[in-house]
Amino acid sequence: MLRVVRIGLIGLGTVGQAVVQLARSFAATTFQIERVVVRDHQKVRPDGLSVTSDPRDVLEDPAIDIVVEAAGGREPARQWILEALANGKSVVTANKEVMAYHGPELLAASRTHRSYLGYEAAIGGGIPIVDSLRYHFTSASVHQVYGVLNGTTNYLLCAMARGRSLQHALVEAQRLGFAEADPTADIQGLDTGRKLVLLIHLAFGIWTDPDRLTVQGLEEWPSSLLSRLDSEGLGLRLLAVARRGNDDRITAQVRPTVVPKASPLMGLQGAQNGVGIITAAGHFWMQGPGAGGLPTATSIWADIRRARDIDMTEAAPPDELRAEPDPVLMPVWSIAVDPDRKINDANRSDEGVIAFPRFDPPA
Ligand SMILES: NC(=O)c1ccc[n+]([C@@H]2O[C@H](COP(=O)([O-])OP(=O)(O)OC[C@H]3O[C@@H](n4cnc5c(N)ncnc54)[C@H](OP(=O)(O)O)[C@@H]3O)[C@@H](O)[C@H]2O)c1
Repeated sequence: MLRVVRIGLIGLGTVGQAVVQLARSFAATTFQIERVVVRDHQKVRPDGLSVTSDPRDVLEDPAIDIVVEAAGGREPARQWILEALANGKSVVTANKEVMAYHGPELLAASRTHRSYLGYEAAIGGGIPIVDSLRYHFTSASVHQVYGVLNGTTNYLLCAMARGRSLQHALVEAQRLGFAEADPTADIQGLDTGRKLVLLIHLAFGIWTDPDRLTVQGLEEWPSSLLSRLDSEGLGLRLLAVARRGNDDRITAQVRPTVVPKASPLMGLQGAQNGVGIITAAGHFWMQGPGAGGLPTATSIWADIRRARDIDMTEAAPPDELRAEPDPVLMPVWSIAVDPDRKINDANRSDEGVIAFPRFDPPA
């Protein structure tokens, strides 16, 4: 028998439009975008969509089964998600900010109301990293998760390695659509930090406060520094790393990090993302488009289908994996500081020494 699943979409920007573009039926299920919520009702929208500027038209409509939140920001996204879950709807979000800051509350609400909450699209665009950690790597314990999680900064670092200044590279990235009009959260590493908070939760079952994570972003480094690294077979990546130590303490940080050119991390060009997962069962690596409408919408559709398969029966996790009431403070962790200080000593400046940690991914 044909089943119709009705979707209420909040947000019709880069991601929301791609969600509409990828809408199609699967087997006996028809997925129908019933209504779309936007902020500005006056803007011209694609034909055939029922558009509103009142989120209640979606959140309170009993005909809508799944709410897709593709608007962004902390509020009112948090309120929308809570309300949709309380009304028995599944929720799929691309919003790393609301999940990083309010994940414990939102996931607790999804358990309380037995409503699915999916956030595959919030990390790594089209890379299925959330699914991998949430469902796949749950029997082999995870020791470490690391990766490049922000396409904008990776694009900028690649351009800087070719001799561009940060400012110049940013103008170029904005022109080509690889950077937002306000790139602050990307350049300062905050966006990567929010994604790392989610990876820490998925890999290790704890929540940390994004504002207390050690985060350092990109700066206008002298071009001589980057060419010096290049001549030594090294490069820079804005690397997020979280690992469980032998004492079971979790340490994590986001920092520009020196990486050997032969590493897959340096193979990530432009806006690509890549994530490594080191588990008791071995070292896994995934890479692909980490942002953009279609890759992100691919993850949203994967979550929409999972919401239907799971049918709101996601099991509550065991007690030891429940969200921590208090955030865990992550200490500063230098992955492996350049041991012979060649790079640091070569780059003294009036402002002091530029010191990058170094990361050699395991074979
Ligand atoms: N862009 C990416 O590559 C990407 C990748 C992964 C995750 N994400 C996440 O996906 C989400 C959306 O990103 P985006 O790039 O698609 O953003 P965007 O292009 O700026 O679009 C945002 C959409 O949300 C609507 N909106 C914003 N605030 C609203 C409000 N208060 N009420 C109703 N509608 C509202 C806007 O309405 P108007 O059209 O009327 O302005 C617009 O349609 C964000 O959480 C972002 O972090 C984006």
